[in-house]
Amino acid sequence: MTEPDRLNALLLAMPKAELHIHIEGSLEPELIFTLARRNRIALPYADVEALRAAYAFTNLQSFLDVYYAGAGVLQTEQDFFDMAWAYFERAARDNVRLAEIFFDPQTHTDRGVAFETVIDGLHRACLQARESFGIDASLIMCFLRHLDETAAFATLEQARPHIGRFIGVGLDSSELGHPPEKFERVFAACRALGLHSVVHAGEEGPPSFIRGALDALHAERIDHGVQCLRDPALVQRLRDERIALTVCPLSNVKLKVVASLAQHPLRKLLEAGLIATVNSDDPAYFGGYLGSNFVETFAALKLDAGHAQALARNSFEASFADPSVKRRHLDALEACVEAYR
Ligand code: HPA
Ligand code: ZN
Repeated sequence: MTEPDRLNALLLAMPKAELHIHIEGSLEPELIFTLARRNRIALPYADVEALRAAYAFTNLQSFLDVYYAGAGVLQTEQDFFDMAWAYFERAARDNVRLAEIFFDPQTHTDRGVAFETVIDGLHRACLQARESFGIDASLIMCFLRHLDETAAFATLEQARPHIGRFIGVGLDSSELGHPPEKFERVFAACRALGLHSVVHAGEEGPPSFIRGALDALHAERIDHGVQCLRDPALVQRLRDERIALTVCPLSNVKLKVVASLAQHPLRKLLEAGLIATVNSDDPAYFGGYLGSNFVETFAALKLDAGHAQALARNSFEASFADPSVKRRHLDALEACVEAYR
């Protein structure tokens, strides 16, 4: 095997955690058409190719419009299970051993789908992923930041009976114009319930949104966060406070957050001493699952096996798993890297 082939084999074989995946963003065009037929929903696209051709994005909002429309085919508990199950089958092939998965209940409850329908299907898939693939899977409920605080509180009320079936809350959707402070009271209520918190910040938004996520929402991880490099004092704070960033390279290229993969700041983030991780965000829309994110980014940035080990280690350490679970995964990672060397 050539050296690049050996590195790619390591990138795919090494145990890893995925901490930034929107399950609705794993809905492939083929499954969108299958579910549309099953639920007798008319789609404004002739076929899978026509739908895929619509995946040409200019910014975050242009993607979100297509993403929310795609999620409209999800109706039944089985639909939510099938979507998540397809993700787990794909993730298992990339040796994802732990996944903390975002879901957007408001996208569904606003269409008349019951909260229970959503979480029942997703949670059943998480249990089965553990059984069938040994993947430690858990759910993080995201609030849509383009909606208001009242809507977020209403969603938290709907979630209350299911509090044991998700581990934390997140904040996603349109970042510009929707600073984290808007959700300060909701996140305080979630914290009081013992839920973890993560926040999308610094994808398109300014460094001040990352500070807001830390100060107002007490975010334990920052999703994306790549804009932090515009603010050296913030970089120092993220390093000192050991706040992990869940970075999504292929997403950043597709949504024009960066001009090209070769100009992606992942290497800079690592060299600044930050706890960066690699993630797929919305793999059905952005052209690749976790393995492809690793392989393509490593080629573009000329990263090596040392970076691979650091990123995989970061992914487990930044997870919300129990220390014993982290230890088990980290030991398996060490063994895998040892065999490579
Ligand atoms: N950013 C914000 N909201 C999202 C994203 C994203 O990349 N993907 C799905 N919802
Ligand atoms: Zn995201």
